[in-house]
Amino acid sequence: MRKTIIAGNWKMYKTIKEAIELSNGLKRELFKLDTAAIDVVLCPPFTALSEVAEVVDETGIFVGGQDLYWLEEGAFTGEVSGKMLKESGCSFVIIGHSERRQFFGEANEGVNNKLKAALSCGLTPIVCVGERLDEREAGKTFDVLKSHVTGALSGLLAEDALKIVIAYEPVWAIGTGKTATPKQAQEAHKYIRDLLHKLYNQEVASEVRIQYGGSVKPDNIAELMRQPDVDGALVGGASLKVESFSEIVKKAAEVLK
Ligand code: PGA
Repeated sequence: MRKTIIAGNWKMYKTIKEAIELSNGLKRELFKLDTAAIDVVLCPPFTALSEVAEVVDETGIFVGGQDLYWLEEGAFTGEVSGKMLKESGCSFVIIGHSERRQFFGEANEGVNNKLKAALSCGLTPIVCVGERLDEREAGKTFDVLKSHVTGALSGLLAEDALKIVIAYEPVWAIGTGKTATPKQAQEAHKYIRDLLHKLYNQEVASEVRIQYGGSVKPDNIAELMRQPDVDGALVGGASLKVESFSEIVKKAAEVLK
């Protein structure tokens, strides 16, 4: 049984004050949440991590970073380490988001280093993979997924692979209002799961959670969640408002896996 996981990626939105307001609102809306059935993760900007962690302390809601650097400390201006994220109250960290690949030159090797660093300090990595529109149109979706997944997991043992979360995020669906159809999402998730089987074993394939990301909204979450290989969602735009994010969480929780 894979536990549903809904994460909110706040990207570069929310000042500390706004982040406290949003997390307080979510805490009020989600206080009845069955945390044994669903994991909820809030990923604010670095500056607001500690405050958000304080607000959701003892609620069962988790906090995650949006990136990390793979070394523990050093002369790396602008970077933040896994140890620092842990200290700020994080349990999760997003790695290899398409915006990082697109705007900050992140590639498989760096994603792999970051994933290992996250695991070594006890953070659960949410590794993002997914094709661009031109790649989909050229029939290369599965090639891209294979490259992203094998690149991210390179050198990782099965016991560590079991600890990760994968987010399938077709780049053409991010922030565009165009969601992948449930069928397209299921097809990609199934491909990733089969690939995990090939790379590792049945246990890894059946236990690793695969989230879908890309214009997830309260009105499309249920249908996505009904797909057998969709275990949750990584939500951008709709995670910035109490109403839409709590609605997504509640609707996802209603879909029995
Ligand atoms: P979106 O973003 O929900 O705004 O499409 C998803 C993401 O980038 O994780």
